[in-house]
Amino acid sequence: MDQISKANSPSLDNFWMPFTANRQFKAAPRLLASAQGTYYTDVDGNKVLDGTAGLWCVNAGHGRKRIAEAVERQLTTMDFAPTFQMGHPIAFDFAERLAKVAPGGPGAQLDRVFFTGSGSESVDTALKIAIAYQRAIGQGTRTRIIGREKGYHGVGFGGISVGGLVNNRRVFPQIPADHMRHTLDVDRNAFSKGLPAHGIELAEDLERLVGLHGAETIAAVIVEPMSGSAGVVLPPKGYLERLRAIADKCGILLIFDEVITGFGRLGTPFATDYFGVVPDLVTTAKGLTNGAIPMGAVFASRKVYDAMMTGPENAIELFHGYTYSGHPVASAAGIATLEIYEEEGLLTRGAGLAETWQEALHSLKGLSNVVDIRNLGLVGAIELSSRDGAVGARAYDVFVDCFKKGLLIRVTGDTIALSPPLIIEKDQIGTIVSIIGDALKRAA
Ligand SMILES: Cc1ncc(COP(=O)(O)O)c(C=O)c1O
Repeated sequence: MDQISKANSPSLDNFWMPFTANRQFKAAPRLLASAQGTYYTDVDGNKVLDGTAGLWCVNAGHGRKRIAEAVERQLTTMDFAPTFQMGHPIAFDFAERLAKVAPGGPGAQLDRVFFTGSGSESVDTALKIAIAYQRAIGQGTRTRIIGREKGYHGVGFGGISVGGLVNNRRVFPQIPADHMRHTLDVDRNAFSKGLPAHGIELAEDLERLVGLHGAETIAAVIVEPMSGSAGVVLPPKGYLERLRAIADKCGILLIFDEVITGFGRLGTPFATDYFGVVPDLVTTAKGLTNGAIPMGAVFASRKVYDAMMTGPENAIELFHGYTYSGHPVASAAGIATLEIYEEEGLLTRGAGLAETWQEALHSLKGLSNVVDIRNLGLVGAIELSSRDGAVGARAYDVFVDCFKKGLLIRVTGDTIALSPPLIIEKDQIGTIVSIIGDALKRAA
């Protein structure tokens, strides 16, 4: 790729970039300078269509004035105030508004909100709440958490322990956890449109792990209802319902990690709504503030919250929290984001585009090296066969090629993952697929 061309560009030496091959990137950087709507503009002035909503987070599209104004207003009114034994109205206001759109609707009672600073913090918060809840109800031996292979739950020690991506785990020590098998089954389910038909029996892994460890050692099971970062892995039909039933039978809390699926990604406000399966805790971040200001939130059920609100009234019920829990500026961004979602119908807009999206993606079937295409709501994945001895190389070439042609996609291994802003138009879906199709032909 061309070297960065702006004369006044900063040195790239000092920023140790996350989840990046630093030396490769710095030798041939891709630098974005501005963003509006569904487009970025890079430092050379090229427009780049955002096929990934940033990093699955800019659901309402870029450069939303309403968010910027709310942030500025809040910054100049009160930049920061603590939420430990103190409060400020805007955090309570945001929590109340979130409660109104909470996963599963009013009947699910998932309307107690714990604020965090990111998805990783939301996950570690949910795991800690689950363990603390079990102790509060007299089940203090339940400290193990069950996750799943290929799961991604951020990068905290809790999140990597329950996560199932080997590169995120192999170097670091972990908390007690075990894992169900993942649900990706290309042999049986390749090119499924929407949910795959095969694999409900994989939910029985939870029961097997209960048999192995003893129910009395397990606090919770955490899954992404639709797993994004591992390359879009969908739950087989009936799978989540089965997990819920086993968890109930065994006294295990069910946590849905909706950091990606929350806020409209599947064409419903949350995946909880899409599947009609109600967990006990839901982790969110990303679309919570449209990616504009870092923030996360855990939705807890009243059952969980109420069980913790015991003991002397002057006792802190949960020894957990972050300096930035309920940050006023992030709360302002979040409220403005919710208003945009509501006014523009974005939390359900994906449902109207899902069919077009599905057909567009599946039109790539038959191109060489395409071994599977998966889709749900406004999420898509194109899985490629790997080059001999070079896993990820083919998809990386496609990624670089697409960027040069003005499209941002995301790749994990040899899977291309797509999640455009929810404001995407049909002709732009066509553009995404056509640029990828051309790149796939060149990468053959
Ligand atoms: C399902 C899921 N959980 C947790 C996280 C971690 O979020 P963050 O990067 O904000 O810490 C992510 C990030 O992609 C995610 O996809």
